[in-house]
Amino acid sequence: MSHWRLDTHHQTLVFGLADGMPAALYWGPPLPADEDLAALEAAGQSMLTGGMLDALPPLTLCPEARRSFPGQPGLSLSRRGVPLHPKFGGCTAEAGAGTLSLTVTDGDAGLALTFSFEADADTGLITAATRLQASEPVEIHWLAAPVLPGPQQADEIVDIAGRWIGEFQLVRTPWAPGIRLREATTGRSGHEHPPFALFPDTGAGRTSGTVRAMAFGWSGGHRMIAEELPEGRRQIQWGHAAGSVGAQSDWTVGPLQLAVSAEAGMGGTAAAFQRHLYDRVVHWPCTPGARPVHYNCWEAVYFDHDLPVLSDIAERAAALGAERFVLDDGWFGRRDDDTSSLGDWQVDAWKYPDGLKPLIENVKSLGMSFGLWVEPEMVNRDSDLYRAHPDWALGAEDQIEGRGQRLLDMANPAVRDHLFATLDALLTANDIDYLKWDHNRVLPAPDAAQTTGIYDLLDRLRAAHPQVEIESCASGGGRIDTGILSRTHRVWLSDSNDALERLRMQHDAALFLPAAITGAHVGPRECHNSGRILPMSFRAWVAAQRHMGLEMDPREITPDEAETLKRVISWYKSTRAWRMAGEIRTLDSADPAVTAEMQIARDGDRFVLFAGQSRASDQTLPRPLRLTALQPDARYRLSLTNPEDLPRQAHGPSALLDGPLTLSGAALMQSGIRLPWSWPATMWVVEGERL
Ligand code: GLA
Repeated sequence: MSHWRLDTHHQTLVFGLADGMPAALYWGPPLPADEDLAALEAAGQSMLTGGMLDALPPLTLCPEARRSFPGQPGLSLSRRGVPLHPKFGGCTAEAGAGTLSLTVTDGDAGLALTFSFEADADTGLITAATRLQASEPVEIHWLAAPVLPGPQQADEIVDIAGRWIGEFQLVRTPWAPGIRLREATTGRSGHEHPPFALFPDTGAGRTSGTVRAMAFGWSGGHRMIAEELPEGRRQIQWGHAAGSVGAQSDWTVGPLQLAVSAEAGMGGTAAAFQRHLYDRVVHWPCTPGARPVHYNCWEAVYFDHDLPVLSDIAERAAALGAERFVLDDGWFGRRDDDTSSLGDWQVDAWKYPDGLKPLIENVKSLGMSFGLWVEPEMVNRDSDLYRAHPDWALGAEDQIEGRGQRLLDMANPAVRDHLFATLDALLTANDIDYLKWDHNRVLPAPDAAQTTGIYDLLDRLRAAHPQVEIESCASGGGRIDTGILSRTHRVWLSDSNDALERLRMQHDAALFLPAAITGAHVGPRECHNSGRILPMSFRAWVAAQRHMGLEMDPREITPDEAETLKRVISWYKSTRAWRMAGEIRTLDSADPAVTAEMQIARDGDRFVLFAGQSRASDQTLPRPLRLTALQPDARYRLSLTNPEDLPRQAHGPSALLDGPLTLSGAALMQSGIRLPWSWPATMWVVEGERL
């Protein structure tokens, strides 16, 4: 019997053969290098009892319906409308350093299935994909990336839901007989079901216990199935959204990324994902840690672009510390509101009679670089592009529009060539080093060709303009997945600049996303989509947790607010190099009113603790906050960075206020620290240094 294994320092995957088909026998924390894999396989076998088939249908990397598999099969195909029930076998393997690919075929049906895996020794992640090759095209109704067993010593599935201005909400569902199915059917990875999930063992939390985590790198909508089979086994499948793929002769599902934390809970899988995204998935055109402070003009001026006003705003933004000025929607066509001009990517000569150059030159003279908003996949019917090429729009004439716009058919090479030429000309003629790339409506119907089309366009543009960074935005966080991140450099996590909402969203998004790619802006004093008024200090510290920016009219800022903002921006600049490359460990807070995380440098020599008081606590005094991921026998010196945020009602002893405070890692992790008493909407920032 053949066995194979793949290892990183975080996880082991073991494969065997079941009736000719490869199956994952084990996916979990590392096993010893000399583990007896045949014994492991034997130990995993169960006896049978009454009411069953004479053998247990195997849970393979692609469970087949024709083997009487008692759950969701891994593929469902037809050819010219006739269902196919292939019989795969004849497994061949190719193993390299950290790579494994297993191929099975069905000669009669003219099909081959290849399961490929790559283990990253540095980041600890394993990447997996399933490729189907067919001698004649087959209709793909469902094809799963390599199917893995779900943990049985586990009570819950944790996946992610969300909505506009409420992204990244954790959803906990009990494992139960039958299927937990998430499906993003809108043609984007979507606010509703971003393709990430966690599978904690019973009792695991953010800082302890065994957790498995998965992300599916596809921006066109996915289906995730977590199923408990009738006899108790569990399986996890990921693939493209139903009905989106059509007939293909060569189709790959993946990458599916896998992380395991043996003891450190969701913090362990988060750290591996953050590292992998930062080191491997995102292709940085620059020094990745030096994330420049952004200024984005959207919530300052919306569509009302006026050169003297924008120049004044740019000067004020630069004086506050901004390093990149991003001109948002409203600069092109006759775009005075959101009813027209998408598709007409020429500078509006009324607003910018001399083109963008005067503004760009001013921005550059202030020491900032220049970024521009675009939404290339879209068209308004009121546009020159639509009038010239109505046939380039996707979907039926009577479709429901979104924000008054339609999609362009990205499967059409003429559309892609046109968009490439237009954007290439814009980037060639102007000194632009950043694009905010938006996608503000869902598809009329899910269609994988839209996604392969946009990937192709992005790849061509990146090859032609390798110095340009791209931000993935889709009404905020509607297109966040590891597929788009292999072609972009930042995500606009949410259109909500409300720091309280952001505190929560950033906390949960950090279970996968590193700080460096997560855009976070200081919004207007009165938040434009919640009406809340929050202190500048809190707004600034929440933005400083991630890739920081400003997105308000700086003319509204008082001198006191400006001082606070400048102080936090200069702290951001002095710490970004190690924080952006480091890891975020969200904490299990004993007080639900406190949302806390640590950001730890790669070498472990320093960290910063952010603890946000989102509302008044139920009890009178702060509960101790236990830190994580420190070296138990090392000593750390802790200093409070922002004592000026102490409210006037707080008095009495505080080791942190009197600080610095020096304690062992063990004491900090077991006993914890007492934060100063605070009002709601206060962020405590505590910096730690290993002695
Ligand atoms: C979307 C984005 C916003 C802004 C507007 C411009 O809603 O999420 O940040 O860029 O488009 O129209």
